[in-house]
Amino acid sequence: MQDFDGRVAFITGGASGVGFGQAQVFGRLGCRIAIADVRREPLDDAVRRLAAEGVDVHGVQLDVRDREAWARAVDEVEDRFAGPVTLLFNTAGVNGFGPLDAATYADFDWVMGVNFGGVVNGIQTVLPRMIRAGRGGHIVSVASMAGFEGSPAAAIYAASKAAVINLMESYALSLGAHGIGASVLCPASVRSDIAHALDRRPDDLADGSSFRADPGFVAAQQRLYEGGMDPVELAEHVRHAIEHDLLYVLPFAETREGLRRHYEQILAAYDDYRTDPDAAAERLRAFEQYRAESVRLRASAAGGATIR
Ligand SMILES: NC(=O)c1ccc[n+]([C@@H]2O[C@H](COP(=O)([O-])OP(=O)(O)OC[C@H]3O[C@@H](n4cnc5c(N)ncnc54)[C@H](O)[C@@H]3O)[C@@H](O)[C@H]2O)c1
Repeated sequence: MQDFDGRVAFITGGASGVGFGQAQVFGRLGCRIAIADVRREPLDDAVRRLAAEGVDVHGVQLDVRDREAWARAVDEVEDRFAGPVTLLFNTAGVNGFGPLDAATYADFDWVMGVNFGGVVNGIQTVLPRMIRAGRGGHIVSVASMAGFEGSPAAAIYAASKAAVINLMESYALSLGAHGIGASVLCPASVRSDIAHALDRRPDDLADGSSFRADPGFVAAQQRLYEGGMDPVELAEHVRHAIEHDLLYVLPFAETREGLRRHYEQILAAYDDYRTDPDAAAERLRAFEQYRAESVRLRASAAGGATIR
């Protein structure tokens, strides 16, 4: 996609950090910007700051876990801008640190609910409208480098981001026929307010949590994120990904070696097992046959449209 001017962009978590940077960059490109956030005051403040920059902006309070509220929010935005949302940024996210062996259901429900459930809800709400509008579009979901590897302290966060990466890979394989692109942004550290994410935890999911807001740890995190990438620079990388229809947005070069080591470790695990190469070749042949057949079946179900 190259034509941003006039498109309606819906950005969750747009009141702060990564989402606010996206609102600035795509607003300057002429997009009409809807920012959605669970926090009212930072949302109003962000709307004021964007409007002062000349961005055509609308703010909507939304908890991305709430499916009915999603439908109302998108209706409101499409009415306000008199046009369909054709750029969706699933950016809202929360983090929590605590020992995995003490994690509660509430810890899982909160982090998975916002970071993964929010992405699912956003796409389920917006994608059918985007397809109906027939103007193409692009969906960007924000994962994290943490999604590529397990983590003892941020395990639930890492699992939620792994799910987002995997889901976006599937959307990238599914949406080409509609002219809709899919990208997944995997930041390392970004200048933002995420060190204070625990403050956004709803009361009904606070019970018995293993996540504790230790002031020393929060301050250390804050210092880490203060040295992170500027959200505007990050959003420029996202723009590049959309313009070139790139799935993975991996602009943190310092993480490359770690990722390589991780994948090498996974591949090395094959060497721990003795297996029958002929049986493996036979299974591969059967799988390739199945794949060719299923591609054919899906293409005929889609009326001949090419589906990868
Ligand atoms: N900052 C980093 O270093 C970093 C690294 C990797 C990934 N990320 C990801 O970037 C995304 C943006 O985070 P950020 O760093 O800008 O943090 P941030 O806290 O500055 O911004 C996140 C925004 O999401 C909003 N939010 C939280 N829960 C919500 C909910 N239930 N519904 C709607 N909005 C909600 C918050 O109010 C906040 O304004 C997240 O998905 C985060 O996991 C950030």
